[in-house]
Amino acid sequence: MKSKTVFFCSECGYETPKWSGRCPACGNWNTISEAPAEAKSKSGGILASGRAPKTHPELLSALGTDDEVRFFTGFEEFDRVLGGGAVRGSLVLVGGAPGIGKSTLLLQFCGNLGKSEKILYVSGEESKRQLKLRAERLGVNADLLYVLAETDLNEIVAAVEDIKPDVLIIDSVQTMYNPELTASPGSVTQVKDCTMAIMQLAKSSNITAFIVGHVNKEGAIAGPKVLEHMVDCVLYFEGESNMSYRILRAAKNRFGSTNEIGVFEMGDSGLTEVKNPSEMMLSGRPVGSPGTCVTCVIEGTRPILAEVQALVAPSGFNVARRNSNGIDYNRATLLLAVLEKRGGLSVGNSDAYINVIGGLELSEPAADLATVLAVASSHRDKAVGDDLAAVGEVGLTGEIRSVNALNQRLAEIARLGFRRCVIPAHVRAELKVPKGLELISVKNIREAISAVLS
Ligand code: TYD
Ligand code: MG
Repeated sequence: MKSKTVFFCSECGYETPKWSGRCPACGNWNTISEAPAEAKSKSGGILASGRAPKTHPELLSALGTDDEVRFFTGFEEFDRVLGGGAVRGSLVLVGGAPGIGKSTLLLQFCGNLGKSEKILYVSGEESKRQLKLRAERLGVNADLLYVLAETDLNEIVAAVEDIKPDVLIIDSVQTMYNPELTASPGSVTQVKDCTMAIMQLAKSSNITAFIVGHVNKEGAIAGPKVLEHMVDCVLYFEGESNMSYRILRAAKNRFGSTNEIGVFEMGDSGLTEVKNPSEMMLSGRPVGSPGTCVTCVIEGTRPILAEVQALVAPSGFNVARRNSNGIDYNRATLLLAVLEKRGGLSVGNSDAYINVIGGLELSEPAADLATVLAVASSHRDKAVGDDLAAVGEVGLTGEIRSVNALNQRLAEIARLGFRRCVIPAHVRAELKVPKGLELISVKNIREAISAVLS
């Protein structure tokens, strides 16, 4: 019989009988690749009826309400992102670009944890010797840390059954393979199959498993996106490779909020936690320069200060160029249009570049006002002042709208030594003004610009 093939998207796992240049499901280009179709079950997919069930449904009301059992990783930032520690028997996917520091993070976490928990660290990328050298360099010495350099899924399952660890680390899922499948390691079929096997192992033996998945731009290997729906938590470790800061972000969490971020710094002896992200985000801020404004966003439960920079320059082309980094592009162009129409600033023929310092993604509308002020400041070539911060959402008519958790933001702004803060005139909750902070209440962007830049 002629062996059949199917095509998979390595980004989203979409399955299709024919190749196309662009994935119809996720829209990515050049991510569809061919894989041999795996044999279906012998019964040809017809479900057997009349057999005794292996698992029984239970009444929800009769189930116990024992809280999930958690343990701490020894990294406060890691615990925070996990929603207050790791949950026993859960499956956590740690995604990130190659070389960002995923192995480093997990190995250091083993160092914290391996004194009380039995850990099995399976590496498909490094030899035991390399792991030893790395552990020595990171100062990791844990009595209960076992390492295994292996990529064969059957061997790994056997080792887990033998050692019975509390925590299992798989680094990385793209190097693991099930020899019973014909697909090559890293393909959608293999990556899904290995994750499924590890999940069953984790759930049946109450092992907490951390699976590393490389995010790969070329799409030649299946990325963590393919696995997101299978696991309990998805964490992404992000950062720019030329900067030492790394942000751990939860994209999915069955046991907690997904808004929390953890901040780390990569140094010579591995990762250290950054307990004060605001200070880090503002370090090296230019003094007295036009085109920058500080704002405060809420990441999970924490307020974090961020610097928005803008550069507005006359355009050399017919079509003005726009670029934004750290703020959604569409939001940025919308704010520029509001500035043009409602703020009386003619930026239509100017190139505009907007950038958030420190690799933070500002998804909150509370950052609008600072963005608008940074653009206006660059346009007028006048600084807003180093002691000023701004929070507020900008509406389409140029009005400044109220934001949530304003008191928490003001406290953080004051703590970092700012003396003035631009805020919306309409505030929902009762204001608690920190000592030494002057508030500038504004109704619309015209008022804001004239209060700050005239
Ligand atoms: P690694 O954890 O191997 O990345 P990943 O597992 O995500 O692919 O991190 C590798 C990078 O981290 C490498 O570029 C060197 C850097 N690094 C340091 O700067 N300091 C250190 O102490 C270590 C271990 C790595
Ligand atoms: Mg690695």
